[in-house]
Amino acid sequence: MTHVIVLGNEKGGSGKSTTAMHLIVALMRSGHKVGAVDLDLRQGSLKRYIENRKKFCKINDKDLPFPIEAEVEPSALDSRAESQARETENLQAALSTLEGCDFVVIDCPGANTHLSRLAHLHADTIVTPLNDSFVDFDLLARIDPETGRVTGPSLYSEMVWTARKQRAMAGVPGGIDWVVMRNRLSATRARNKKNMGDKLEDLSARIGFRLARGFGDRVIYRELFPIGLTLLDLGGVDSPVRLSTMSHVTARLEIRSLVAALNLPEPETPAEAADGAAAA
Ligand SMILES: Nc1ncnc2c1ncn2[C@@H]1O[C@H](COP(=O)(O)OP(=O)(O)OP(=O)(O)O)[C@@H](O)[C@H]1O
Ligand SMILES: [Mg+2]
Repeated sequence: MTHVIVLGNEKGGSGKSTTAMHLIVALMRSGHKVGAVDLDLRQGSLKRYIENRKKFCKINDKDLPFPIEAEVEPSALDSRAESQARETENLQAALSTLEGCDFVVIDCPGANTHLSRLAHLHADTIVTPLNDSFVDFDLLARIDPETGRVTGPSLYSEMVWTARKQRAMAGVPGGIDWVVMRNRLSATRARNKKNMGDKLEDLSARIGFRLARGFGDRVIYRELFPIGLTLLDLGGVDSPVRLSTMSHVTARLEIRSLVAALNLPEPETPAEAADGAAAA
C-alpha cells in the first residue's frame, strides 16, 4: 500500500515545496521508495528543485537519491466539467504509475485549484506549513477582527473536512491525518510564538488537526534550492556543502522531528509481504 502525503494550504510561500523536498529526501534516505508529484503547474517549484538536484549531480559527478516523478497534465478543455473530469483522470493515471512506491509526496499550489482539491481526496496524511504569524492564522480559521475570537473554520479547513467526509463515504479505510507545522519560527519573537502556539493548540481540537513543531527561519533553505540539496544531504565526508553551523544541525533535527511526528506507517518488507500472501 502506498501512503500518500499531501503538502497543502492556500497561502503562497509558506514552505510547502521546501518541506515536500525535505520529506522526500528524508524518506528516501530511510530506504523507502518515494514518488513525487508537483501539482503547482504554474511555479513548478518541486519539479525545479529536483531538476536542480539532477544538474548538481551531473556537474559535480555525485550520486544522490532521486524520487520517481509523475507528471500531471493540466486540462485546457473549454467546458469546466470536462476539464475537471480530464484532470481527475490525469491525476489518477499519474498515481497509478507510482503504485509500487512506499510513499508518494504531492506538492500543491498555494491556491484552491481543482487538482489540489483532488489531491486532498487521495491523502493519507496532509501536512500544512503555516508561517509563524497571526496574519496567516486565517488559513485555518475565520477570526473576528474586533475581538480576535475564532468564528469558524477557514475555506481550507472546510476543504479538508470535505475530503475526510468523501473518503469515509467512499469506504476508504483509515482517516486523513492532518498535521499543521509552524514554519520560519523566529528565535526572537518568543511572546508572539507562545500566543500563536496557544491559539493553535486550542484550534487543533476544534478543527481536527495535530500540531508538529516545525522549522526555524533559516537562510540555508533558500541557499539549498538552487543546488537541489536538502539539509539531509549535507554533512557526509564527501558532502559538497558542510553542515557548518549549529543552526544547520538544529535544522536537521527539526526535519527528523517532523518525520517522527508524522507517525508514518513502516511499509512491510518484501519477505513480510510474501508471508502475508502465503497466509492468505
Ligand atoms: N524555514 C524557512 N526558513 C527560511 N526560508 C524558508 C523556510 N521555509 C521556506 N523558506 C523559503 O521561503 C520561500 C517559499 O518557500 P516554498 O517555496 O517552500 O513555499 P510554498 O508554500 O511552496 O510556496 P507556494 O505557495 O508559492 O508554492 C522559498 O524561498 C524558501 O526557500
Ligand atoms: Mg510551492
